[in-house]
Amino acid sequence: MVERGGESTVPISVLGFYAALVLWGVLIARGLSRPREWSLVAAIGLVLLLFLNVRYLIEGAPAGIAFFVSLYDVFDNMGLSMGETPAAMAACVGNACSLWGDTYTLHQSWGVAFFDRFVSAPALRTNALYIHLACNSVAFVLMHVQLLWSDRASRVISHAWLGRLTMMFLTIGTGAALYLASEHDAVREYGGIWAEWGFYSMSLCVFGAAMMGWRMARRGDWGMHRVWMIRFAGAMYGAFWLFRALLVVTGPLFREWETVSLLISIWASAPLGLLIAEGLRRRWDSRSSKASAVSLSS
Ligand code: HEM
Repeated sequence: MVERGGESTVPISVLGFYAALVLWGVLIARGLSRPREWSLVAAIGLVLLLFLNVRYLIEGAPAGIAFFVSLYDVFDNMGLSMGETPAAMAACVGNACSLWGDTYTLHQSWGVAFFDRFVSAPALRTNALYIHLACNSVAFVLMHVQLLWSDRASRVISHAWLGRLTMMFLTIGTGAALYLASEHDAVREYGGIWAEWGFYSMSLCVFGAAMMGWRMARRGDWGMHRVWMIRFAGAMYGAFWLFRALLVVTGPLFREWETVSLLISIWASAPLGLLIAEGLRRRWDSRSSKASAVSLSS
């Protein structure tokens, strides 16, 4: 149970989420040699993503952010001695930006700024965040239906219509992200103008890949449509999962350099995700062309 006000506490929900992530990690590792298990891996990933994102809509932005910041507190405070305050870490008013109570009173300064931005924010800012995370979460789920389960889904709704719906949610979600990013020049703890333009570049990477996929479909070039949509999926995984996973490592590593760890995630996550997806696709394609060459020659 979580208590506040000077008590050291252990938030069970955070520990439970760590346990779920470990289980997911094991399944991902197994999935590398068992492609048939990917559907399960993807489904569990979607449940975890929705667990993180839907809580904003239920509990409100400050509570959602406090949970998010709490996920990093353990790693960022590792090895810190009493009274030490690294340059990239700060306290927040009443320690309300975390669920750890007095266990951890220092947090990444971007986490404190993130909480402060939404704790008594203008309605437009809060609504932009809700629209962004809701629309991008829906686009994330639909993208899986298109790529992994489109045979089954096409019995209910056509691939083309689902694609248009995915693009619509992605456009609205990215539009809201652009609005949020346009305010970041005033947020020093994020990296100011570097964070603002980093999020613009992230939007370009994700949305640009989706637009290329859409263009190829309009041309009837189904081979390149598939290529670009796999790249788009990689950029989405990068923007969401890689962005957050990188912070676990770079946060403690760069805690003497404020903004470095967040800026790495902002600038690198989506392009890195796209490149990884491209590399995996090439590997699958060369394997399946080798397999069909073998079956033809036998
Ligand atoms: C197009 C790529 C993306 C961009 C440019 C982007 C940008 C942003 C920005 C600017 C914020 C708010 C930070 C603030 O204003 O203080 C944010 C937060 C958030 N975004 Fe995105 N985002 C992208 C992709 C995604 C995706 C694919 C999802 C979900 C599937 C997502 C879910 C969230 C969530 C849940 C938050 C709140 C922080 C958290 O709990 O992680 N974003 N994003």
